[in-house]
Amino acid sequence: MRLSIPFFIGFTLVSLSDATTLEKRQTANQITTVNLADNTGTPAHLASGFIYGIPNTLGQIPNSFYQNIGFNYGRASGAQLAEPARGWIFGLTEFKNRFESAVANYDTARTFNAKFVILMNDLWGADGTQPAGSVFPGDDGDWDNYNSFLVNVIAGINSNNMFTGVAIDIWNEPDAGTAFWNGNQEQWLTMWNMGYETLRSAFGTTIELFGPTLAGAPETTNTWWTTFLAQIASSNTIPDAYVWHLEGSVHPNDDLQTNIPILDSMLSQHGLGTKPIVIDEYGVFAEQCPGGSAWWISRLERFNVPGLRGNWLSGTELHDFMASLLWKPDPTDATATGYFTNGDYQVYQYYNLNMTGHRVATTGSIDRLMDSYATVGTDKVRILVGGRQVTGTWQVTVDSLSTVGLPTSGTLDITTWQFSFTGSHTGDVGLPTNLGVVAHTYSGNSVSFPIFQTDTTTTWAFEFNVA
Ligand SMILES: *[C@@H]1O[C@H](CO)[C@@H](O)[C@H](O)[C@H]1NC(C)=O
Repeated sequence: MRLSIPFFIGFTLVSLSDATTLEKRQTANQITTVNLADNTGTPAHLASGFIYGIPNTLGQIPNSFYQNIGFNYGRASGAQLAEPARGWIFGLTEFKNRFESAVANYDTARTFNAKFVILMNDLWGADGTQPAGSVFPGDDGDWDNYNSFLVNVIAGINSNNMFTGVAIDIWNEPDAGTAFWNGNQEQWLTMWNMGYETLRSAFGTTIELFGPTLAGAPETTNTWWTTFLAQIASSNTIPDAYVWHLEGSVHPNDDLQTNIPILDSMLSQHGLGTKPIVIDEYGVFAEQCPGGSAWWISRLERFNVPGLRGNWLSGTELHDFMASLLWKPDPTDATATGYFTNGDYQVYQYYNLNMTGHRVATTGSIDRLMDSYATVGTDKVRILVGGRQVTGTWQVTVDSLSTVGLPTSGTLDITTWQFSFTGSHTGDVGLPTNLGVVAHTYSGNSVSFPIFQTDTTTTWAFEFNVA
């Protein structure tokens, strides 16, 4: 961070009134920085996954919609499908019908070489819509039912050759009250061991096993985490990735920057090594807009963590619209087409198609409310910024301009693109708007310019030519 350096060093005035505004309103903790000298590798579009959002009919959403955002991670297993596809607790036929939906979505994912996560709770039928009093694995000490379920899941995976890029979430969000589990922690841990050992012996390491897949992020006071870590250490049932969800609120704990050091210290306390992290649900509905998505992209890219957008639609809409990136004229008709992109989609498309070259290191603002993701291509530097449901003034500082062949002082022409969220999640929005070029004078090998955030959803990309 550049805390010790007065923020106006290297700062360029857009106009006198901008400068006045900034001096009055801006503090050092509202600066997001880009370091052009720190190459962090080839873009892998770590944020271009989403849960559900794929119709059962192959090709219903045209391929280009997936391809243009670099779709690379799916997760689905028939949640909320109606009778006769309600899952295991409604009998074998309803299980098989629900499993077919997982297979169809897996096939779509494979079309794009995307990884895919199977959810055991949804195959069971515990998808949040199950009737009160529904049976769960191990209820009344009966594990036969769960074992028989496992046999059928394994048979389904084998007979459909679901072996490429597949992971299994052993259970989704057991800690989310009674939405997906009956709330009993010990029973969950017993199931974890049985599920882990049975699936591991069936598939070896061909299929990854994900856990604990909690709604809550790792915290030393969260007993779902502490008991889980103690158990996997003692029984050697260690998941292939540590998985949790970041769908809380705009809170420091709903942030990888907080979570990762805490997880690392909890792992070492339990004598466990690190593993990859996957956030297989990220973002609340209000954050699924250009600003929020760019903020999440910045975070996931910085920590090299694959992330899948959460999905806040239900019923047949849960199985459509690529987790609120698309809409169509007749949304209640599950098989209707005529898809169009919303403003949020345009951020992911720009991230995938335009932000080429190599990634460079960025830092989020100290207040954690503004962040940036940046790439250096053969033609341009591209910086995507995103705020976390905020209005106000922030600043971008780009350091080490000489790394891209620019002089250490001079004037730099920066183009601004605006990503609007017109019409919200159901709006029909095309490419971002070119707001034109502003010439920024700079010195000290560093240029700074303001972001005026007047609403909580719109966001921006800044581009300038490399020399
Ligand atoms: C992104 O790339 C496309 C294809 O080259 C181009 O048409 C579009 O103008 C670019 N968008 C921005 C914001 O640079």
